[in-house]
Amino acid sequence: MGVKRVIVFDTTLRDGEQTPGVNFNINDKFEIAKQLVSLGVDVIEAGFPAASNGDFESVKNIADKLKGVTVAAMARSVKEDIDRASSALKNAERSRLHVFIATSDIHLKYKLKMSREEMLKRAVEMMKYAKGKFDEIQFSAEDASRTDWDFLVKVFSEVIDAGANVINVPDTVGYAMPREFGELIKYIRNNVPNIDGVMISAHCHNDLGMAVANSLSAIENGATQVEVTVNGIGERAGNAAMEEVVMALNTRKDYFGLVHGINTKEIYNTSKLVSELTGIKLQPNKAIVGANAFRHQAGIHQHGVINNRATYEIMKPEDIGIIPDTFALGKLSGRNAFELKVRQLGYNLSPGELNDAFRRFKDLADRKKVIIDEDIRFVVEETLEEFRS
Ligand code: KIV
Ligand code: ZN
Repeated sequence: MGVKRVIVFDTTLRDGEQTPGVNFNINDKFEIAKQLVSLGVDVIEAGFPAASNGDFESVKNIADKLKGVTVAAMARSVKEDIDRASSALKNAERSRLHVFIATSDIHLKYKLKMSREEMLKRAVEMMKYAKGKFDEIQFSAEDASRTDWDFLVKVFSEVIDAGANVINVPDTVGYAMPREFGELIKYIRNNVPNIDGVMISAHCHNDLGMAVANSLSAIENGATQVEVTVNGIGERAGNAAMEEVVMALNTRKDYFGLVHGINTKEIYNTSKLVSELTGIKLQPNKAIVGANAFRHQAGIHQHGVINNRATYEIMKPEDIGIIPDTFALGKLSGRNAFELKVRQLGYNLSPGELNDAFRRFKDLADRKKVIIDEDIRFVVEETLEEFRS
């Protein structure tokens, strides 16, 4: 048996657009979709065609023009939404309907105002209605993680009979804990009688900061598709961050033993593009793509990294497409890092000059929090002037 491949389903353009304050126009969506193809995602969820004419056009534009990727469109479990999705995806090389309905008792009672039986009847009817109109159909049980497990098994089993190729398990409100979410995936895998040949997908939100951990736990327990957004954008606290899930799979290949189709060297470009088009700046300590993700401040760390990067780096910045600016020079920095920076800036100082420049740098770093290249040049030039006179 070959190595298992995880399918990466990117929902930056649908769930990511549900980030408060974010609104992509047709050009933004197309730019991001093109970049997602370069990144190598398997499925792009391009939007929700029934939501607005603008979103319909954006989905259609991506489906018409982008090849080499499956294009998905979201729909509620109603005929009008399914028809809109079908017409937006008409020219897709490979189309996927993503149809959903809530399954938890709390959503049934307060949102859908339906009984379990009524909801299930609707889900099955809509699945039969959609069958044949798309290359693939994905069914999502909204709020799955707060749904009675045996009822969820029944729902999945019936929608699979009615035509679903992918069943998605959303932790819609980011409520699940990693072990528990993994157990749920395993329960579905072991108890849905007709699961063979059907993809199990995980869709995790980050309300308790668990979206990535829950996604990875799902993968460990048999999920073969993971739903992510670039930079983890999305409703409330967002979705599982693509870059974190992918780099965890990559860095700990020894642990997961799985492959994926992502060209990790495009991760940084993709992150920057999404940050620019959403106007959402990344926190500096954001894993993988934050400004500090590969920078070392303490002298002891800098010394280690100069000798061998693996002392304090578990990934290579180049693998993510980052040109490293390794050392955050400051008052805690050591001589080695300072010397390296001076050389990178094109100076070749004698040991005496270096001592003097390092002393000046330390004095400056005591007064100034952020040291930039210009500051280093300044102290070196001061030293050289002093030595020349
Ligand atoms: O979070 C969620 O439940 C969703 C579904 C519609 C998949 O985004
Ligand atoms: Zn979601």
